[in-house]
Amino acid sequence: MRLSALVTVALAAVALTSPLQKRAKAQVVTKCTVPNTAALTFDDGPFVYLYDVSKALVAAGAKGTFFFNGDNYGGCIYNEDQAKRVKYAYDKGHQIASHTWSHAHLNNLTWDQLHHEFWLVEQAFQKIAGVTPAFMRPPYGEYNDLVLEVAGNRGQTVAIWDFDSRDSAGATAAQSNKLYDDLAKAHPSTILALNHDVYQQTAQVVVPHAIATLQKAGYKLVTLAECLGRPAYQSVGAPAVRDDSWKC
Ligand SMILES: *[C@@H]1O[C@H](CO)[C@@H](O)[C@H](O)[C@H]1NC(C)=O
Repeated sequence: MRLSALVTVALAAVALTSPLQKRAKAQVVTKCTVPNTAALTFDDGPFVYLYDVSKALVAAGAKGTFFFNGDNYGGCIYNEDQAKRVKYAYDKGHQIASHTWSHAHLNNLTWDQLHHEFWLVEQAFQKIAGVTPAFMRPPYGEYNDLVLEVAGNRGQTVAIWDFDSRDSAGATAAQSNKLYDDLAKAHPSTILALNHDVYQQTAQVVVPHAIATLQKAGYKLVTLAECLGRPAYQSVGAPAVRDDSWKC
């Protein structure tokens, strides 16, 4: 190879890995696109109430989407009980997606810190469930251009929401239920609903009510990927066997 060609190849390699280079930003979705679908999504787990949420969904022939953190309410995702919850949700046909490792305010983080927040969760999903997620939700719904560039670089679609049950804002179960009642009455074509499975009242009172109310209103309760007609994962394979690397 001539020197000039070598230089060109070397420059191309640098451009591909340079954080300064303009990158394709991730797509941000705030709405489902398949008519008459509703996606119930749950942030901040895994946590103990995941089982209540899953059972209510499965009993109704419905599926949900869990945006998991690596180390949040339930502790380290590699703990036996936590890893079991991740695998359980996946095995039941729900979608599992990333809510980043530590639930940080992403707008404050550097390129490298953002990659770290994304990668640790992707790696945990690969080990525990054998999948690489295709969707992530930024904590607090906060993102900037750098977040979108990192997300795009990692093949992630950024998922926000168009309905908030307000459970994390301190709404009572009755108030959240009323919001779902009003939503069903307003009857938008599609629904992308934010909930948190770390609250007992959400899991045991609001979710059963939301499922019944939305199904009665004619919505099909599907995963986020299904309500967009897209794959949930960038890769699907076999889970790994627990070893010393399963720690936080
Ligand atoms: C990071 O950003 C958020 C708002 O985006 C702000 O509230 C917070 O105080 C900042 N600092 C830290 C250390 O999180």
